[in-house]
Amino acid sequence: MDGFRKDFVWGVAAASYQVEGGAFEDGKGWSIWDMYCRKPGVIANGDTGDIACDSYHRYREDIRLMKEIGVHAYRLSISWPRLLPSGTGKVNEKGLSYYDALIDELLQNGITPYITLFHWDYPYELYKRGGWLNPDSPQWFADYAKLVTERYSDRVTHFFTLNEPQCFIGLGFESGVHAPGQRLSADDTFQMAHNVLLGHGMAVMAMRAAAKQPLEIGYAPTASFMYPLTDSLEDIEAARRANFSLPDDPQSWTWNVSWWNDPVLLGEYPAEGLAKYEKYLPHIGQDDLKIISQPLDFLGQNIYNGVQVKAGETGEPIYLKRYTGFPKTALNWPITPECLYWGPRFLYERYHKPIYITENGLACNDVISVDGKVHDPNRIDFLYRYLRELKKASTDGVDVRGYFQWSIMDNFEWHSGYAERFGLVYVDYRDQTRLIKDSGYWYRDTIACNGTNLI
Ligand code: FCB
Repeated sequence: MDGFRKDFVWGVAAASYQVEGGAFEDGKGWSIWDMYCRKPGVIANGDTGDIACDSYHRYREDIRLMKEIGVHAYRLSISWPRLLPSGTGKVNEKGLSYYDALIDELLQNGITPYITLFHWDYPYELYKRGGWLNPDSPQWFADYAKLVTERYSDRVTHFFTLNEPQCFIGLGFESGVHAPGQRLSADDTFQMAHNVLLGHGMAVMAMRAAAKQPLEIGYAPTASFMYPLTDSLEDIEAARRANFSLPDDPQSWTWNVSWWNDPVLLGEYPAEGLAKYEKYLPHIGQDDLKIISQPLDFLGQNIYNGVQVKAGETGEPIYLKRYTGFPKTALNWPITPECLYWGPRFLYERYHKPIYITENGLACNDVISVDGKVHDPNRIDFLYRYLRELKKASTDGVDVRGYFQWSIMDNFEWHSGYAERFGLVYVDYRDQTRLIKDSGYWYRDTIACNGTNLI
């Protein structure tokens, strides 16, 4: 194929806790993020998501801006405790109605909703019952997935189960810099991960059973992708090995691709990990992997950056140091466009699933200039370089179905609070004014020509 498919989905993404606000309104239950943000010193500037971008009240304006940019799709997440204040049991009708209105408004504006079931705002009441460590936790998630499907699958057909399990387990329970801020043993994090994967599989089954029409269901993990120094077979093979190998340190194991993807997409845990982590692993039931590997329609993948790799003397991957002054974003993340070529390619070669890039973008130090506009040439340059790589992947035969830019607007960036601006739309938090940045208009033009400007 030459460039992107004709029906390529150009989207934008956001997540419930990061944009909605309305944290204590209309019967919503508390999430672990509502709790965590109250802990002194853990979030930059003492920020919270209590109000965020106030999208709970301003979603119509958000959607108007999406329409102006011309996006085809919006990847949103649902706040589990807004629907089920205790995580299970009693349903909050007002919460359900909020997403009804949001979905209807999107559809009326010709924008397709892609729903992520879980983007980190875990119900606090379930956390008190042990959260993902509780053996009932997969069923809790499946019950919530069923509720979402029963209510919205008459209008919504595209779903993702989990966003970045690497992060919500790794940052939430290993390093403890995200909610709920714990540092648990490897035995516990492996147990949780297994329950998370079971929850994914059980949710997929529950959704297929409850669907009002055929659904397309995927998963949205993340990764930093290794890319080869040259196009030599040796370097490519070294990068591939590096991408699918597993960390040695069992206290910091969650940053990898294969432990999270192989069970879901290949029906088995990687042998390397079974050997390496043997003494920390939970009991894996006979049918567990069958449950976890429910057929999916596509793979969602968040990609922000990567590391360059070359082959050593015996083919082993050597991770290359970045040169002094290497390009970086405002958050100090390296700018490595090649990862948007090699990431999808390696994933497609291993898993043979259509791919959506479910997140990609950057933080910039954006300001409103004297002319009243937000000029963000760095974001345009970044998106240009990254999307050009994705286009090349599509041309080279990787089945790339769509791309969701992170994010439609500046929002609550977890432990960085509002200090980091990731949006195509600038948000002035003093009065919630929104302003499309130059990059938003650039994205509009790119969508309009289906990426033929990416030369
Ligand atoms: C990802 C998260 C998303 C956002 C971006 C910048 O890890 O999924 O919510 O914070 O990073």
